[in-house]
Amino acid sequence: MSVSREQGGGKITVPALLQRKAAADFSTQKITCLTAYDYPTARLLDEAGVEVLLVGDSLGMVVLGYESTIPVTLEEMLHHTRAVRRGTRNALVVADMPYGTYHAEIGESVRNAVRLVKEAGAEAVKIEGGERRLELISRLTEAEIPVMGHVGLTPQSVNALGGFRVQGKTPAAAEQLIRDARAVEAAGAFAIVLEGIPRELAARITQDLRIPTIGIGAGPDCDGQILVLNDLLGLTFHPAPKFARQYARAGELISSAVREYCSDVRRGSFPSENESYHMPQTGGGQRTVNIDVELAD
Ligand code: KIV
Repeated sequence: MSVSREQGGGKITVPALLQRKAAADFSTQKITCLTAYDYPTARLLDEAGVEVLLVGDSLGMVVLGYESTIPVTLEEMLHHTRAVRRGTRNALVVADMPYGTYHAEIGESVRNAVRLVKEAGAEAVKIEGGERRLELISRLTEAEIPVMGHVGLTPQSVNALGGFRVQGKTPAAAEQLIRDARAVEAAGAFAIVLEGIPRELAARITQDLRIPTIGIGAGPDCDGQILVLNDLLGLTFHPAPKFARQYARAGELISSAVREYCSDVRRGSFPSENESYHMPQTGGGQRTVNIDVELAD
């Protein structure tokens, strides 16, 4: 493994995030969040000092190739959350509850959240929706599961919303979103994602709440920011949304490396002599087959 495992600034916890909001610390030091879906990216992000890793159900679109987040299953979230947890030392690991796992009976929803915590190591769960999730959020917090809310453009409501559109643009819609955010806080959530809403509205909600707000497409005034890792890396097959700043061209990097590899294999220049093993020399200068030859050689 070529990447060293540095000790960062210590474990990020839910109480520590709440304390920072109370101390108005986010005005100078915003919370850094990114999505992570597997062991290597979780490890790199954690070592780079990202404070919150969200195993987002966006994995359905950017990793599994689904058209939306709707088909993502609890089993898929468990699988990816386990991998992220194994790669994480300091960041807080939050797992999305996928569509359908918290939309019916409350007891079943709590059991599903417990599985994410108990079987996959999530330290909190995220659920989409405002006022209508009040009861569920309080039941989850009663069950000792920290909850991150998510309001505004909630991708699991894509069919009800009629597409991925900025929310809260009329005075009535903005008022509803403020009520939603307050309800999420009152129910006991420790943080809330504000997605795809006007900057002014996000600023107002951020000022209004005692819990940290994490923005995505919600302007710079939130307490923290989150992006889908693949958007940031340039590793997607769809045009990036306006708010997603691309910091790298990982897709192009991978394509170019793989093309070079294919070309080397085709013309026989890979593997080279240095990349090959040899039979051990015997006393008589003969090479014999030794089934214990170690790969490290
Ligand atoms: O699933 C996800 O990645 C999310 C973030 C965009 C907040 O919900």
